[in-house]
Parts: sequence; C-alpha cells; structure tokens
Amino acid sequence: MNFPLNIEPLTPCIGAKITRADLQNPTPSMTSAIRAALVEHQVLFFEDQPELSPSEQVTFAKTFGELHVHPAAPADNQHPELFVIHAHKDSKVANGNGWHTDVSCDAKPPMATMLQMRHVPSTGGDTLFASMFAAYESLSPALQTFLQRLTARHESEHVYRGRYSDRGVDDSKREYPSHSHPVVRTHPENGRLALYVNPSFTTRINELRADESQALLEYLYKHQQRVEFQARFAWKENAIALWDNRSTQHFALWDYWPEERLGHRVTILGDKPYFDAAQAKPRRGLTKLARRL
Ligand code: SIN
Repeated sequence: MNFPLNIEPLTPCIGAKITRADLQNPTPSMTSAIRAALVEHQVLFFEDQPELSPSEQVTFAKTFGELHVHPAAPADNQHPELFVIHAHKDSKVANGNGWHTDVSCDAKPPMATMLQMRHVPSTGGDTLFASMFAAYESLSPALQTFLQRLTARHESEHVYRGRYSDRGVDDSKREYPSHSHPVVRTHPENGRLALYVNPSFTTRINELRADESQALLEYLYKHQQRVEFQARFAWKENAIALWDNRSTQHFALWDYWPEERLGHRVTILGDKPYFDAAQAKPRRGLTKLARRL
C-alpha cells in the first residue's frame, strides 16, 4: 500500500500542505510519497513540525539523495550542507530577496531545497513560489518551440561576491560558478517542461544578440512572475517548506526590517539540466490556466 500522506493542495497549479508526517523518523515509503507529492505540487509546506536538530534535518534531506554544498555561504563546521538563512537589523542584504531558482549557476543545481524557519518576524517575511511548469505551459506553442532551441548563461559572481563578508567569508580569491543550461528543461521525474531562466542568475541567452537576449529575458521574467502561477507562504515558527528547484522559482520578501528572521536550509543535489524533446509529453491543447491568460 502507498504511504498515506495527508495532502491539501493550495492553488490549482502550485503548492500543497502536508500534515502529520513524522519527518524525524522518515521511512522509505514516506520519503517516496513525499517525493511524488513534491514533483506534482512543486512546493510542500509542513506546518506541524517540531524544531529539527541540524542532524535530523540533514538526515531527512539525505533520504532524497546526496546533499549539495552552497558555493558561497559560510559553512557550519559539523554540517557543511547546512546554510543558515538569517536577516536582522544590521543585515545589508537578505537571502533570496528576488525571484530565483537556487544556485542555478552550478553545473548541477540543487534539485530541491528544504528550509525550516526557526524564528519568524511578528509580520512579513513570507516566501512566494511560482510554478515554471505553468509559466512554460501557458506560452503559445510557437514561442515554446522557439525557446526549446535556446540555452542561457547563469552566473553568480554578481550575486555572491562580498555577500557573506559580514559572516566572516573572505572571498577575494574565490571564483564563482557560471554555467549554461537549456532555457526549457525537462523534469527528469515526470517529463513536464519548465521555463528555466531567472532574473537573479541568468545573464544572457547564448544564441541571440545582446539586445535580443535582453528583450526576450525581460518578457520571460515578466511572464513567469504572473500571480496566477504563484503560491505565497506565511511562515510559522518551525514550519518547513520543501521546494523543487527544477520546476519553481521563489522570492523571500524582506519587508520585516529591523526584525529578525532565521531558518536552516539544506539543498539536495540535482542532475545537469537537459531538454529532451522525445521525453516531453505531447501537449493536448492549452491548459485551463493558459486558456484564460
Ligand atoms: C532562499 O532563497 O533559499 C531563502 C528562502 C527564504 O528565506 O524564504
């Protein structure tokens, strides 16, 4: 019998809440049910969790695969995979305060991210998630076909250089990753196609002239940020979000300064993004959402 997960979808195209899952004691059947729900709903929220210790969080995340280590953030001595997300009154920047897919500049960007919020501001600090399946599927077939032939550069020096200097990171000699990926990627677990450019890391569509690239990226960013593709999560203490970076983007709102927000994040290593026309499921007409746009 499949593991009985309690799943409550949040919107027609993205997000679901999961209750009564014991993440401190994961079993293979629970992990595979969560993984299937993640691929389908793209971001999962667990609001009824106790505070997980760093090793419990790392152990749970490892049930999905090898963990990814962030190329820039300060690493915890005991758990190098753990990334502390922290903004407070003295912060100059807050992590994730712009639309992005985590570390898309890496050759193998993380497939998923798990964040547990340990301290929430009295109001604000929500995270917005957007479905890149919905963004792609609602484009016209002609534009979809054109985009399938393109690749884009994802860079990170402009994002990361100096960002963690207030947390003791001296990156003056460090090189930051930069890679090209297809503009449309095939999800390796369900074959759906997702738009894979984001305004934080993507700098250029390789096959186009600079002015053409800029115009097309501007259009795609505007399109992928439509509210119809989004779910917005208001954190409670110890809530956990688990998102699929292969099919989503997110934006962590920094509207709570000078208050504090603190969370523990781990990311699970993904594969090299690819576009596979043969694996792509044939589209039968427009999705319900696309018909209304
Ligand atoms: C991130 O981009 O990983 C941070 C998300 C958040 O703080 O809500």
